[in-house]
Amino acid sequence: MKSRLLLAAALVLAAPLAQAQAQASQARTVQPGVAPLPPDDLLYRELGGKEAIQGFTNDFYDRVLKDARIAHFFDGINVNYLKRVLADYFCVVAGGPCTYDGVSMANAHADLGIGKADFNALVENLQLAMDAAKLPFATQNRLLARMAYLHRDIVTQ
Ligand code: HEM
Repeated sequence: MKSRLLLAAALVLAAPLAQAQAQASQARTVQPGVAPLPPDDLLYRELGGKEAIQGFTNDFYDRVLKDARIAHFFDGINVNYLKRVLADYFCVVAGGPCTYDGVSMANAHADLGIGKADFNALVENLQLAMDAAKLPFATQNRLLARMAYLHRDIVTQ
């Protein structure tokens, strides 16, 4: 009886821990091949958290859609969907407590025929949006460094 009580007590005590662990592991879950995850949420916090990330992501896509070099890639694409999943993506790769539910980078870009210049043009717009959001240069570079890895999945030309 005593051992049962002890077991029950242990389970009660363990439950919040297991829940916290499940939440933490959910935050760390990302589709294979998307990006390696950072060890902590430092970059996420430097970027200003989820709302700030969604803010500069929206601005970034608005700029991309006005950039004659690459706007044509996005003809007929659901921009609101892209803004949402891209912000989730940035949040996840920055170590934030988000879940990315879009398709893998390789699959999303496989048939688009994206070249190096297109990739660079897109990154340029991301830099402009982060500048406009007054993010420090070092923080911008840390996010960009995590994007550079994607080159091989996205640039197919
Ligand atoms: C920094 C690198 C990039 C990142 C992080 C990125 C991220 C993403 C994400 C998260 C999606 C949504 C995937 C889904 O449908 O669930 C997506 C789709 C898309 N991306 Fe990128 N992307 C990058 C580079 C580019 C470049 C360079 C272009 C073209 C110039 C591009 C064009 C597109 C288009 C057109 C789609 C929509 C595809 C479709 O729905 O059929 N992306 N991207």
